[in-house]
Amino acid sequence: MLDDIKEAINLVQSIAHKEPIKLYVLTGAGVSKASNIPTFRGENGLWTKYDLDEVGTREAWLRTPKKVWKLYAEGINLLLNAKPNPAHKAIAKLEEYNLCQAVITQNVDSLHQKAGSKNVLEIHGNLLRIRCTNCSKKQLFSSPPTEIPPKCECGRLLRPDAVLFNELLPQKLLQQSFKIAKKANVALVVGTSATVYPAAQLPFLSKKSGAKIIVFNPEQTDHVRIADVFIQGKCEETLPIFVDRLIETSDFL
Ligand code: OAD
Repeated sequence: MLDDIKEAINLVQSIAHKEPIKLYVLTGAGVSKASNIPTFRGENGLWTKYDLDEVGTREAWLRTPKKVWKLYAEGINLLLNAKPNPAHKAIAKLEEYNLCQAVITQNVDSLHQKAGSKNVLEIHGNLLRIRCTNCSKKQLFSSPPTEIPPKCECGRLLRPDAVLFNELLPQKLLQQSFKIAKKANVALVVGTSATVYPAAQLPFLSKKSGAKIIVFNPEQTDHVRIADVFIQGKCEETLPIFVDRLIETSDFL
């Protein structure tokens, strides 16, 4: 693992000697696992406990909003108490050193922002933000909802401003993400199973445009096929080493 980290650092440094670094980080649920937020797939994943069609789709929401809200409410409770882990902090440090243009995240947990990352593109929305299904008014949750399903002042249902399956992603953020992915020369792909599109497409676009791909994951994923370096392991352990050593040993900063 340490050899792979060294190889990844050499790769970034060799690019930096030729051109400015244009790096982005794509994150998935694995980055928040050490913050006690379950992933969706794999051991104890949310979709092994809940039926995606029953609670995770647009159709489920329209059919049984109360049932879907029960799961949302559990999630909101969990997220309100969650704290960023060393992986979120390492990513924020990259931005602090002008080494990261954007964090493109599929996570809805606000942990990148809590760790200090500023340019975070939440392409699957945010579970702690709610919006009215009628007047589209948005507000942030600071405590769990007392009434389920909660209602807006206008009387209609409120829902989290997070994307459900079979819904469109926020188009402006998505276009911005495609642009960043195509222009990047380095992509760090952290804790995602590479199964949900269009998010999973981003590293493939970057690779096609000539970027180097570095994958941080304990498991093999489709992104590993295009990875220039695969740093196999838990990102809360590997990313801080990568970031600290990159910063310590780089003369271009
Ligand atoms: P998944 O649950 O599909 O995948 C989590 C990934 O994290 C897997 O590849 C794990 O191997 C990896 N992983 C687990 N522990 C890790 C650790 N400590 N360090 C690094 N990696 C670790 O989560 P996503 O890929 O984020 O969509 O899922 C994508 C989308 O599917 C989610 O945004 C959500 C879901 O259904 C919506 O809700 C629209």
